[in-house]
Amino acid sequence: MVRLAGPVDNKTIEQNIVMRHTASTNVPQQDMRRLRRRLLSWYDRHRRELPWRALPGEAADPYRVWLSEIMLQQTTVATVKSYFERFLERWPDIHALAAADLDEVLHAWQGLGYYARARNLHRCARVLVAEYGGQFPDTEEELRRLPGIGEYTAAAVSAIAFGRKTTPVDGNIIRVMARLMAVGDPMPGSKSVIKELTAPLMPQKRAGDFAQALMDLGATVCTPRNPVCALCPWMKDCRAYQDQAVEKYPVKKKQRQRPVRHGVAYWITRSDGAVLLRRREEKGLLGGMMEVPSSDWREKSWSAPEARSNAPLKSKWVRIPGVVEHTFTHFHLELIVMKTRVRKDHGLNGTWCRPDEFSEFALPTVMKKVARLMQSS
Ligand code: ADE
Repeated sequence: MVRLAGPVDNKTIEQNIVMRHTASTNVPQQDMRRLRRRLLSWYDRHRRELPWRALPGEAADPYRVWLSEIMLQQTTVATVKSYFERFLERWPDIHALAAADLDEVLHAWQGLGYYARARNLHRCARVLVAEYGGQFPDTEEELRRLPGIGEYTAAAVSAIAFGRKTTPVDGNIIRVMARLMAVGDPMPGSKSVIKELTAPLMPQKRAGDFAQALMDLGATVCTPRNPVCALCPWMKDCRAYQDQAVEKYPVKKKQRQRPVRHGVAYWITRSDGAVLLRRREEKGLLGGMMEVPSSDWREKSWSAPEARSNAPLKSKWVRIPGVVEHTFTHFHLELIVMKTRVRKDHGLNGTWCRPDEFSEFALPTVMKKVARLMQSS
């Protein structure tokens, strides 16, 4: 049984983590009630005001909830706010969005990245209007049949928009629950353990508020680093806090040494100062995001002469001193950068853009690093 309060035994933190490798869901009802009460009353006082949220006592609008959850899938709350407001002004309901041209939607999405989300959003709006009379279904099961709605989003929409007792699990919820119950299973691979532990905690009433309270607690108090435990409504219940090991959770899987891949980034400047960007293919790593034309990312490193002969156009290419490094989940990337100047477009596909306007595009971090190297060279 997981004890949520009480003395910590005399074991080292590591022993405790190993011992509780698979945390039990067997939490006494009384503890559950206390946890629910404390978190909801904290939420009533400290909830974040977010443009997609219903005010206390107001019914949630499923369209707003769904739109925000799709936007939040890979993007921060701070970035999503302004996009959400612009979308809502332009397409105030599901019928308006379904009637929009895909291109308009893609254009309004520019900067959020992962364009497959925008395509699915539009497709989903059309399906809802054509097959559901413009009404969102309220169960996880039915929501999951719609384009772009996976396990997390279905649970979030079902709880937040319809008050159903589902269990959405995102990064914030993983961290809060892993600390509360000192879950020793490595994350994010053991998300199902967190779901199992959270499900019995979800209240019959206010399930949507409870889910959002967990998210807000994770975003504002139970932060990855320097959590503000003194302000936490669950401080006294938190196993990790009792063990003085809050930042040890969630436990991360030991990373194996990542393989190294090598690539070439081609920085092509036109005489007006614009640089060529192109969109990556939708499928695969950094799908739909912008990049400077680049070679394959391969195991073998690139010599400068080889990089020249592989370049997207014949020109005088100069190797920039230094290497751009970036670590992805499954490999470490080292890019060399080659630059050239051209007087005209040479029929090259892509978008010419001045570096001070790069922020208008969804540039992944690795490409921002390339731009930074160019600025400093
Ligand atoms: N992240 C994803 N969905 C969210 C929500 N509804 N509120 C706050 N943060 C979120």
